[in-house]
Amino acid sequence: MATLGVNIDHIANVRQARQTVEPDPVQFAFLAELGGADSITVHLREDRRHIQDRDIYLLKDIIKTKLNLEMAATEEMLRISKKLLPDYITLVPEKRQEITTEGGLDVKNNEKYLKGYVDSLKSSNIEVSAFIDPANDQINSSGEIGFDFIELHTGKYAQLKGHDQYVELQKIIESSYYAVDLGLVVNAGHGLNYQNVKKVASINNMNELNIGHSIVSRALAVGLERAVREMKTLISIN
Ligand code: PXP
Repeated sequence: MATLGVNIDHIANVRQARQTVEPDPVQFAFLAELGGADSITVHLREDRRHIQDRDIYLLKDIIKTKLNLEMAATEEMLRISKKLLPDYITLVPEKRQEITTEGGLDVKNNEKYLKGYVDSLKSSNIEVSAFIDPANDQINSSGEIGFDFIELHTGKYAQLKGHDQYVELQKIIESSYYAVDLGLVVNAGHGLNYQNVKKVASINNMNELNIGHSIVSRALAVGLERAVREMKTLISIN
């Protein structure tokens, strides 16, 4: 059975919309663990649009499961991750203009740079994952470089419908088998929701699914009514 990594970036998005102190993603990590999260994922972006440096250090101290730090393979992030020492790191491509991580990391065309980068992280005993598209050449390069995990990008699968979605799912399934044969541990994520997750979760040897937006959206849906009722009660007391 696949484990669940809960991405809490969108909690921080709401906080940053007002540049205030709530909602605090650190508190929500605690709630996610209570709900059964097997790990907590945060993406520290270069532009700090949601998760802040303060968040990652507090999370490292308080979470009882595992901390998965998503980051771009930059010198700044290397410095931060060696100080933080998260349980593992997922290397993702990062473009300033994108709304969310768009494509997978191009491991194949950056083998030399990424090998040095991964070696450096591993020398600090941090396990490293590559967020890649389901393509054999990217998987081969990830294996050769020495990544411990790959995370297969399910964003395309999530966007497609009907037969096209089925075809993309087969690609993900074949990629996961191919990667496992090479000795890689296979995670998956991006765009997974309450409707489309089951087919990905049932892939043999799927290690972990990383899910953020749909869980935070659902939390709003199941929590808003109570939040309004509590405010209404406070107002009506006088
Ligand atoms: N995995 C990776 C590598 C990601 O970049 C993201 C988005 O931050 C996710 C998983 C989670 O995607 P979503 O928020 O669509 O569930």
